Amino acid sequence: MKIIRVPDYEAMSKQAADVLIKRIKELPAPVIGLATGSTPKGMYEQLISAHQNEGLSFRHVTTFNLDEYIGLPPSDPNSYHSFMQETFFRHIDIPLENIHIPNGEAALLENECTRYEALIDKKEIDVQVLGIGENGHIGFNEPGTSFDQITHVTTLTHSTRQANARFFQSAEAVPKQAITMGIASIMKSRKILLLASGLRKAEAVARLFSGNISEDFPASVLHHHPCVTIIADNEALSLSNMKGRTI
Ligand code: F6R
Repeated sequence: MKIIRVPDYEAMSKQAADVLIKRIKELPAPVIGLATGSTPKGMYEQLISAHQNEGLSFRHVTTFNLDEYIGLPPSDPNSYHSFMQETFFRHIDIPLENIHIPNGEAALLENECTRYEALIDKKEIDVQVLGIGENGHIGFNEPGTSFDQITHVTTLTHSTRQANARFFQSAEAVPKQAITMGIASIMKSRKILLLASGLRKAEAVARLFSGNISEDFPASVLHHHPCVTIIADNEALSLSNMKGRTI
């Protein structure tokens, strides 16, 4: 696990974008796993800027998003389809058919999960970008999720719905379920880039670095992955003992 300490959110966003830009330039057909939420927004801004000002093209890039709420149409401003469109996709030249996000409106959700996992297996994700929940979730794999889970329907915990209520009118309005790539789906990625910023994440980051591996703390599975880079800012690292780590 390689840890890159950066001063703040802006530096984290820049470093993360630089990792992706390098892969996008190196590979003929890069496949990138993406996250939503507050954490990667700055990274998307940097990528958009590289597209608009430096001519970086996404024509040959394929993307897979981690998750989508169940029951929100793609047009709902709080759906992750909408988030990705507004925050990133509509500003770049990625072909529509290269974008993959679980369909939270599928009539047969189990079939949708199988379809999504099969696509991931076919395309193979080069770099998966992750945020981390305050409870240690990655994607929407909540504490207690089996490390063997592939893409599945999940019930969001009260704490996750509370944490995401800031985007909705109320905590009650946050959907109760989502489709998420499973922990095993995430672990298939060749490289994983986990981003963490702010005091809100300090406890989860410290718990991750404690080295205890348990399904009660989903992010701890990353200790089993051969190629993980964590980019975290000073606030997110404020409760972590960094002795003996690559910084
Ligand atoms: C988002 C996702 C979640 C978030 C996590 C952190 O697609 O899967 O795991 O990465 O909840 O969210 P923020 O970045 O809003 O703190």
